[in-house]
Amino acid sequence: MAENDLDEGKRRFLLTATTVATGVAATAAAVPFVASMMPSERAKAAGAPVEVDVSRLEPGQRMIVEWRGKPVWVVRRTPEMLNTIKADDDRVADPESKRSVQPPYAKNEFRAAKPEYLVLVGICTHLGCSPVDRLQAQPEPFAADWHGGFYCPCHGSLFDLAGRVYKNKPAPDNLVVPPYKFVSDTTLVIGDDTKGA
Ligand code: FES
Repeated sequence: MAENDLDEGKRRFLLTATTVATGVAATAAAVPFVASMMPSERAKAAGAPVEVDVSRLEPGQRMIVEWRGKPVWVVRRTPEMLNTIKADDDRVADPESKRSVQPPYAKNEFRAAKPEYLVLVGICTHLGCSPVDRLQAQPEPFAADWHGGFYCPCHGSLFDLAGRVYKNKPAPDNLVVPPYKFVSDTTLVIGDDTKGA
């Protein structure tokens, strides 16, 4: 191979690497991140409850906070999104969340204390990957008649807009709902559901 060919090969490799790196940066920047929602280092170390301001979360959006080192998702569901959950009953493996983990106040149709807000630990119940959100009802490569929810790229598990796992997927159970409570219309505390505190 001529020296010029080698240089050309190197140039192409560098160009590809730069393009990939730029793509990663752009994806990271697109994830909503609000610094004030993150707990202090001391609170994180202690595993303390995390207070979350959801006042800027628009209908149809998801935000991610960290609690005890885990990603916790808060999704503000629209009435249309809530309607799809009923339609998903025959697609999911545990429609009534009988064998799945959630506090008693989230063991209901919408798996939530308030139907509008879905709160989930964002870790797949198969082998612990973090699924990605595909919240819109539209055809997806993994499901032509997708109703919206979450997709785990590791082994293809699918979850609906209540975090319920689809039938015949590797993940055995629905996504976990952590303990939480609302302390105002737009403030919730993750990791603490005691009353009157
Ligand atoms: S870790 Fe999610 S499907 Fe395997």
